[in-house]
Amino acid sequence: MPYRIEPLFDTKNPAFVTLDFAAAQDQNDPLKHLRDEFVIPTKADLKSERYGPATAHPTDGDSSKSLETCVYMCGNSLGLQPRRTSEYVKKYLDTWASKGVYGHFKELKEGLPPWLHIDDAIKEQTAKMVGALPGEVVVMETLTANLHLLMASFYKPTKDRYKIIIEGKAFPSDHYAALSQLAHHNIDPSALIQISPTCSDTPYLSTEHILSVISQHGASTALLLLPGIQFYSGQFFDIALITRHAQSLGITVGWDLAHAVGNVPLHLHDWNADFAAWCNYKYMNGGPGVIGGLFVHERNGRVDKVSLPNGNSAAEDPTQSEDQLAFRPRLSGWWGSDKSARFRMDNKFVPIPGASGFQLSNPSALDMTAVTASLDVFAMTDMEALREKSIKLTAYLEARLLKYPDGTPPYRIITPSQAGERGAQLSVLLEPGMLDQIMEILEEEGAVVDERRPDVIRVAPAPLYNSFVDVHRFVIIFQDACRKVVASRASKKTPDTESGTAEVENGVS
Ligand SMILES: Cc1ncc(COP(=O)(O)O)c(C=O)c1O
Repeated sequence: MPYRIEPLFDTKNPAFVTLDFAAAQDQNDPLKHLRDEFVIPTKADLKSERYGPATAHPTDGDSSKSLETCVYMCGNSLGLQPRRTSEYVKKYLDTWASKGVYGHFKELKEGLPPWLHIDDAIKEQTAKMVGALPGEVVVMETLTANLHLLMASFYKPTKDRYKIIIEGKAFPSDHYAALSQLAHHNIDPSALIQISPTCSDTPYLSTEHILSVISQHGASTALLLLPGIQFYSGQFFDIALITRHAQSLGITVGWDLAHAVGNVPLHLHDWNADFAAWCNYKYMNGGPGVIGGLFVHERNGRVDKVSLPNGNSAAEDPTQSEDQLAFRPRLSGWWGSDKSARFRMDNKFVPIPGASGFQLSNPSALDMTAVTASLDVFAMTDMEALREKSIKLTAYLEARLLKYPDGTPPYRIITPSQAGERGAQLSVLLEPGMLDQIMEILEEEGAVVDERRPDVIRVAPAPLYNSFVDVHRFVIIFQDACRKVVASRASKKTPDTESGTAEVENGVS
């Protein structure tokens, strides 16, 4: 992958671990203004029993004020709210209140697009996020539902080719989806092939290993479904190479981009993925459970007119000639059918060419509005600029975590150390038994990360709104928590338990 990996910081410089150093990095950050586009909860907000902001949100230009905000490093799970989301949602509510059903059709001054066209309006921006042609993407449904819809169309098992390859630590929803697709086709669950790490003490899957498992099952596999970025380890897979290899063996290739979209630049069209799906609530900041998105490569979304026996092509108006159209079969609904014919109610399904032809229902305008707000923030920059900042920010977090002031740290990073093999997330494996106490202290101190039991915390500095000062603050809080937990465990040691504890501690090197 085309990223420089040489050290980005002089970590031997004693100033490297200071607040001033972090603040200076923020000063030089060309994207620093984007932080102001987000509502960053304060520490008081997080602790309050009230649902709304407990205090006025400080803007973060002033570092004394920034200490009041929480340290939010959880964009891999749920992105923060763009400030404009409430403005756009208010417009949506006002449109509904003042126009009723006319909101579907009416172009309004300074309003959002009419709801009837709201799915078209966000195609261009979505396409940019994943490196696709506008016709190759659509915002619809939710991630797992979309994976099923896509598999219904793309997983076509035959007697000889019927296996689905996923990874051993696939997100449970992907695992269930693939397994239930097999069951749906009456295929034995042993046809689910799982790529697992070759070494038990790391979740790392080398590209070589992935390719070799694909080759091993090449002749009998119908579908490969992998994540662009692995949710647990944060590993960023080589999508282009893996896609090419699997397709050369006749395998259809789909990607779950939940942790990749809005996190790393993607080039789905050029990488020739058959299909992909993602959610819009992690790095995309669309809001919890908001509508998702999917990609269908141009060559798979074609709707062709078929020549009639007399040599004529189908009638000029394709909506009148369902039988003479050739397209990939899919589970269909009215919203995937040609717009001009949608309200004819004549039961002739004429798919919209491209990804839009996979839609089922009219999309939630409320969800679309929230995603539009999110995309408008991304439109203030581009994924290449974000990636540049992200590589630096994540490298800074890594370098700071590796500099543990008290000797050997009671944790290790299990995310790949190469910038090209990860996005904005570092997964930190703690010594066994530390997780609960560490999470408790982090919560108390206003540092928000998420946990993957039994021993991992995931820390995600999102380049749109996280700063170097955030990373500095997080590392201070986290390392302090580690020291406290290690000390409390040591003080609880009795001669009887000492050897047991030593064994546990050796478990993490
Ligand atoms: C990798 C991955 N796949 C699938 C899902 C399920 O997403 P949804 O609940 O939107 O279907 C998630 C949710 O976090 C995920 O991280």
